[in-house]
Amino acid sequence: MEKRIFLSPPHMNGTEMPLISEAFDSNWIAPLGPFVDRFERELGTYLDGRHVCALCSGTSALHLGLLTLGVGPGDRVYCSDFTFSASCNVIRYCGADPVFIDSEPASWQMDPDLLASKLEEDAKQGKLPKAIVVVDLYGISADFGRILPLCAQYGIPLLEDSAEALGSRRDGKLCGTFGKVSGFSFNGNKIITTSGGGALVSEDESIVKRARYLATQAREPKPFYHHVTIGYNYRLSNLLAAVGCGQLNALEQRVEARRAIFDNYVAALSDIEGIGFMPEPEGAISNKWLTVITIDPDKIRKSPEDIRQAMEAENIETRWAWKPMHMQPVYENSEFVGGDVCENIFNKALCLPSGSSLSGHEQDRVCECLRNVLLK
Ligand SMILES: Cc1ncc(COP(=O)(O)O)c(C=O)c1O
Repeated sequence: MEKRIFLSPPHMNGTEMPLISEAFDSNWIAPLGPFVDRFERELGTYLDGRHVCALCSGTSALHLGLLTLGVGPGDRVYCSDFTFSASCNVIRYCGADPVFIDSEPASWQMDPDLLASKLEEDAKQGKLPKAIVVVDLYGISADFGRILPLCAQYGIPLLEDSAEALGSRRDGKLCGTFGKVSGFSFNGNKIITTSGGGALVSEDESIVKRARYLATQAREPKPFYHHVTIGYNYRLSNLLAAVGCGQLNALEQRVEARRAIFDNYVAALSDIEGIGFMPEPEGAISNKWLTVITIDPDKIRKSPEDIRQAMEAENIETRWAWKPMHMQPVYENSEFVGGDVCENIFNKALCLPSGSSLSGHEQDRVCECLRNVLLK
C-alpha cells in the first residue's frame, strides 16, 4: 500500500524549530511571552496594520469577536449557512440565536440578495440582528462589495470568519480585513498552523484590547485577583506562537502552492464529463485552502461517499464538504433563509487532498485514482 495522502496536513518550513528552541532557552514556556507579541505584530503587519490578539483557537477568536460586538442572550445573529459548526456554535455560546442564510451559486458564499431581503423584513418587524457572521469558505472571500453596504445601511457589525482564508484576497484586499472584527484559525489543517491556535483581528484597537482582557480571565489591573466580568482562558502559548512566527515566513509560498495544486487538478480532471470545481468569482483570489470538486449526478453515477470510500481504499483521504448548518439536528429549530443552494452543493461536493506539501507524484496518484473511480 502506498503512503497515505492526507487532506491538508501541517507543512513545516524549517524555520520553526530554531524559534521553538529559542522559546525553550528563554524559559518562556508559559502562555504569553515575547513570541506571542511578535506573532501578533507580524500577523498585524501582514494584515495591512490590523491589531491582533493571538488566541488558542479560531473558535475562541469568533466567540470573543461576538462578545466584543456586544452579542448577548436573546440576540439574533445572522450567519452563513454553508460553514463549519464553530462559526455558529459561538452564537449559542453567547446565548444568542443564529439565523442561517443560504449561499449564492456563483461563489458558494452567503447570498447578498437573501441578506438584503432578510434585513429589510427584520427591520420592518423591529428585530434586526446584533451582528452578522460571514464566512470566507474554503478560502474564497464572500462578496463584501455588496455585503458591507448592507451592514452600513442597517448599522449591523460584521464578524468575518476567515478561519480558512488567510492569504486570500478580494479586489486587492486581504480576507480578514473586511470585518469590524475577524477571526483566523491556525489548527493543524489550515494554510499555516500553530498546531492549535487562532487570532482575533480588528482595525479598532479598543476591540482587540477588550478581547485580550476577556481572553486572560478578565483580570483587572490590580495587585490582587479582582474580576468584574466573566473571563476566559483563551490566550495562545508562547511555544505555539514561536511555531506561528516560523510558519508566517512561508505564507505566500503556501498560497502559491495550493493555487498550483488546484490548477493541476483542473488541468488533469476537467475533461471528465460531470466534474466541476468550486467557482472563484471575479475579483476574488483564493488561497485555495481546499480544492473542492462537484460531481454531477446526471453524468456520473457515483456519490461523494462512493468516491470517498474508493479513494480511502487507496489510502487517499478525501472529505465531504461541510454539511449546511440548517441541516444539522442541533440547529433544526433555528431560522433559515433561502432554498437549496447549500444543500445541493453538499450533496455533490468532495474535498480533495490540497496540502501545500503534496508532491507531484501524490497529485498524480489522486487524479489517477479519481479517474479510475469515476470512469469505472
Ligand atoms: C470556517 C471555520 N470557522 C471556524 C473554525 C474554527 O477554528 P478552530 O478549529 O481553530 O477552533 C474553522 C476550523 O476549524 C473553520 O473552518
